Amino acid sequence: MLNISVFANAAAASRFVASLVVNCVTNDPYAVLGVATGSTPSGVYRALTAHRRHFRHVTAFALDEYVGLPSGHPESFASVVDRDVTRALELSPDRVHVPNGLATDPENEASRYEELIRRCGGVDLQLLGMGRNGHIAFNEPGSAHDSRTRVVTLAEQTRLDNSRFFASLDEVPRFALTQGIGTILEARQLIVMAFGDAKAKAVAEAVCGPVSESSPASAVRRHSDVLLVLDLAAASLVESPE
Ligand code: F6R
Repeated sequence: MLNISVFANAAAASRFVASLVVNCVTNDPYAVLGVATGSTPSGVYRALTAHRRHFRHVTAFALDEYVGLPSGHPESFASVVDRDVTRALELSPDRVHVPNGLATDPENEASRYEELIRRCGGVDLQLLGMGRNGHIAFNEPGSAHDSRTRVVTLAEQTRLDNSRFFASLDEVPRFALTQGIGTILEARQLIVMAFGDAKAKAVAEAVCGPVSESSPASAVRRHSDVLLVLDLAAASLVESPE
């Protein structure tokens, strides 16, 4: 069942999500968090810095990573997670995991990552953003809802959207390692965030359309504990029930 909370703006929504994360890690100091990258969760991570004393024993798993970016590239998700999560919240670096986008055998790396999530007991609370095309992690439209961690080709829309982080579109990688939708659905709790009118169509399709592979985000409706957190702009095309 999909619960939806709508806030006046992304800042208020981010403070609310941060309070849920704080609840999670104060109830269980050894919680396993799934951390999204991109611009959507950045306000949540900022709000959490005031509570960083609670994160010492927390384990974190990133959703995805570009394939082939040089080590230390500022836009690799390893760098982003290191800056915005590990350092900002003072997590122990050996408890923070990101798929290795430089692995010589990426498919083997995908299996290793799945196994590592399993060995850590699975993800307790997974934070997710949503792409303009409805992707979650880098599961682009057409991804199977039972897909596992694997190498994927990024949609041109995703490369274009993410080119704002790079000097040019050419620099945006074409491939990524991503947790599958099936992998993500195994987390015990999901919080999906979407802010801004660029996300409104993807949100409406995920919430009001059929649960289908053309809308990866619609797959979260198969989960029993999921909260969708929106600002007014992202919620603007969601039809309210009569
Ligand atoms: C990030 C991720 C992506 C983003 C999505 C939205 O780890 O997996 O699914 O959540 O592309 O990106 P932003 O937040 O930059 O709009």
